[in-house]
Order: sequence, then structure tokens, then C-alpha cells
Amino acid sequence: MNEKVISIAIDGPAAAGKSTVAKLVAKALNYTYIDTGAMYRAVTYAVIKAGLNPENEEESVTVLPGMTIDLLEDGTVLCNGEDVSKVIRTPMVSSKVSYIAAMKPVRLALVDMQRAMSNSKCVVMDGRDIGTYVLPSAQVKIFQIASVECRAKRRYDENLSKGIPTTMEDVIEDVKKRDYIDSHRAFAPLKPAEDSVQLDTSELNIQEVVDAILAIVKEKTGVEA
Ligand code: DC
Repeated sequence: MNEKVISIAIDGPAAAGKSTVAKLVAKALNYTYIDTGAMYRAVTYAVIKAGLNPENEEESVTVLPGMTIDLLEDGTVLCNGEDVSKVIRTPMVSSKVSYIAAMKPVRLALVDMQRAMSNSKCVVMDGRDIGTYVLPSAQVKIFQIASVECRAKRRYDENLSKGIPTTMEDVIEDVKKRDYIDSHRAFAPLKPAEDSVQLDTSELNIQEVVDAILAIVKEKTGVEA
């Protein structure tokens, strides 16, 4: 690997605002943004589309062989060539994605893709296990947290702005359920890397979080936006 290739890992629980922030950090540094949650969502959609049960591992993993996932520069997500950018954010997918993300064969397949994507270029990658498992030697590791209520409100507003119908109660339940499954799964669970910097964003706006991360990047790598 080229010595100058820098990786920034941003992990944390569901709806902590990681993707919004990671996108802006990547833009500021001119790095590539990699949304690994979108990849687990794409697999979940493929399973549902194939009429399989996303809570059943044996059935679900049959979609993996030959599957392609492309994350385009403009944020478009392609799964087997189909634009799934919008459908992967719907409650139909959100409510099942933690089951798919807990399946070891799914994780191994996606982690291979994620490592390949960051092999030769500078990336900002967000997810749950980037600092602990996918890119353990990332130069910068952020663990972004926020209260459940705050995260649910952010996800609710995001859904509203995208025209996805949800209620606050449903979003709170979904966030809590996903926190539990993501942090209790056997393989690569959600937890802060020992060398990560924890950032509580409950009381910060987006720009404040971005600025805090850019300051950490500068301190750790000397790279300035
Ligand atoms: O960040 P998100 O809400 O789009 O992630 C969707 C789901 O995928 C989430 O429930 C946890 C899982 N996930 C994971 O297990 N590991 C990752 N690196 C990214 C996401």
C-alpha cells in the first residue's frame, strides 16, 4: 500500500449523523466517501426483492455470488446495476438490515469489497466496524455518538425530507432495535476501537462536528482541509 494513502474511519450507532458528516469531511479533504451501511442495505434489498427471508441466513446468502455493488461519486448506489439509492432507505429495508448485517458470510463479502475500495486511494469510510475490523490501521478513527432521541429526530427529519413516510415512535423503536442487534452480534459488533476518538454530537450542529473531525485529522496526520 502507498504510504501516503490515508484512511479515516467514522463509526457509531444508527442515525448518529455519520454519513452526512463523513460526506462533508470527504469533500473538504477531496477524499472518496464510502458508505458501508448502504452496502448492507443493498444486500438486504436484494434478499427482499428475491422473495427470500432476510432473517434466514441460509436463504439470504444465496444472493451473494456474483452480486455487484457500486457506490458512485454522486451518491448513487447500484446493486447488480439497478439504482437502489432510494429504496434502500425505506422502512422495509431499514427494519431488516441488522439481521443481514449480523450474517458472517455477508460481512466477509462486503469487507473484502470495502478493503479493495480503500486500497489505493484516500477514503472517509463510515460504518460500525471500520476502525475495529475493516481498516484497523486507519490513521484517524472517530466513534460518533448521540442520544437515542436526538438520533431518532435526525432520522425522522431525514425521512421527511426524502418523502419517506414514518412516525417518531417507529423511528425510535427502529433505532433502539438496531442499536441492540448491531452491538450484540457475534461477529464484528459495534464498539469503539481502542484508539478511536469518541465524539458526542448530541449538542453539536453538522458544521461543528465536521470541524471537530477535521481538527482531529490535522492533529493525527498533518493533513489540512
Ligand atoms: O449506517 P446505516 O444505518 O445505513 O447502516 C445500516 C445497517 O448496516 C446498520 O443496522 C448496521 C449495519 N452496518 C454494519 O453492521 N456495519 C457497517 N460497517 C455498516 C453498517
